[in-house]
Amino acid sequence: MEVVIAPADRLARLAADVVERLVRAGATEGGHAVLGLATGSTPLAVYDELARRHVEDGLSFAGVEAFMLDEYVGLAADHPERYRNVIERELVARVDLDPADVHGPDGLAPDLPAACAAYEAAILEAGGVDVQILGIGTDGHVAFNEPGSSLASRTRLKTLTHGTRVDNARFFGGDLDAVPLHCLTQGLATIMQARHLVLLATGRGKAEAVHQLVEGPVSALWPATVLQLHPHVSVLVDDDAACRLQLAGFYREAYAAKPTWQGL
Ligand code: F6R
Repeated sequence: MEVVIAPADRLARLAADVVERLVRAGATEGGHAVLGLATGSTPLAVYDELARRHVEDGLSFAGVEAFMLDEYVGLAADHPERYRNVIERELVARVDLDPADVHGPDGLAPDLPAACAAYEAAILEAGGVDVQILGIGTDGHVAFNEPGSSLASRTRLKTLTHGTRVDNARFFGGDLDAVPLHCLTQGLATIMQARHLVLLATGRGKAEAVHQLVEGPVSALWPATVLQLHPHVSVLVDDDAACRLQLAGFYREAYAAKPTWQGL
């Protein structure tokens, strides 16, 4: 697990560099690049940067396949906060990603367990995710794997905690009742199968979750701690999100001393 502490705009560029390298190379293992997309506010700066590179540098996403992490259950197809619509608006419509190549769990499916199984199968069929962008909740959730989630979990129905619904009420005009109670989310084991995990966190509100993620014991109480068991994780945090890291000084030294050819 590599920790990079830098201003938010630099973190967004670093994450965009990882995506650009993948997209230009075509794939790390399979026949085509497979990108894992997170929603929420933290990755928006990365999507802005990718959209800029598409326009200014000709970065093309043609042929890239993308998989979203999660989706609310029961939000109407045209609801602006449905994650499918968020990702269309924030990334897909701004680059040349083919919307048909962007997949998400179907939170409107009549048979939700079948939709979850189909989603797992689709990720496998695509050859797995090469680079997965992740955020983290204040309670340590990744995707919508809330505390108590099985570390071996697969895509399934989950109930959002009250705290997560309070955090996300800002996307619903501050109306807590408008935030769905249920979601479909990739499981922790699903996420762990992606080949490179790039997690971004900014702001003091994420400091405890980041401390637990990097330095805490692996535990379902802080689901993101399972990432400690992954061989290739980049944790990109600003000073505020890093403020509780016990070894922050060492992470800064190690990153400053890193050979430039190594990348993330
Ligand atoms: C969303 C997702 C969530 C968010 C997390 C942080 O697809 O997977 O885990 O990453 O709730 O959200 P923000 O970035 O809004 O603080």
